[in-house]
Amino acid sequence: MSGNKTNEGFKMLIRYKKAYEKIAMGLLSFMPNEKDLKKLQQTIKQYETDDKWQLYLWKDEDITGLIGVAMEGDVIEIQHISVNPSHRFQGIGKSMVQSLKQLHEDKKIVPNAHTAAFLKKCDEQNPDA
Ligand code: COA
Repeated sequence: MSGNKTNEGFKMLIRYKKAYEKIAMGLLSFMPNEKDLKKLQQTIKQYETDDKWQLYLWKDEDITGLIGVAMEGDVIEIQHISVNPSHRFQGIGKSMVQSLKQLHEDKKIVPNAHTAAFLKKCDEQNPDA
């Protein structure tokens, strides 16, 4: 039988919650600077406890991506961005950056050293977004 189809085709960023901890840690671990388990645990803990740190997950049918930011005044720094390897090169990374910009239209979005390369790529392909 068909399931609930109301969300079919609906792709969006959702806020992290504890129920997503395992999948979030799996996605975070694809970041080159989050390979160490202790570091990874500290990072997820800070996303759970620090109001200035916000973690979002990309929800399609499954959760396929993650984007994590630090807010400081009018500036939002993208600290982590990661897509499940089976779902890469389909535009999810770019869609997450785009959606983040839409969620925070009034803020300036900047990369950090660990996300700059991909953010540069997004800007090159979509400079006005
Ligand atoms: N730096 C620069 N460009 C990158 C990149 C990187 N680290 N990783 C992928 N790209 C480019 C691809 O070459 C591709 O280029 P093209 O459009 O010219 O073909 C484009 O980004 C793909 O865009 P998109 O499909 O929107 O990205 P994605 O959904 O595959 O996700 C990442 C991109 C970076 C999130 C994904 O590769 C990933 O999870 N990497 C591991 C985590 C990581 O290193 N994050 C920090 C990146 S600086």
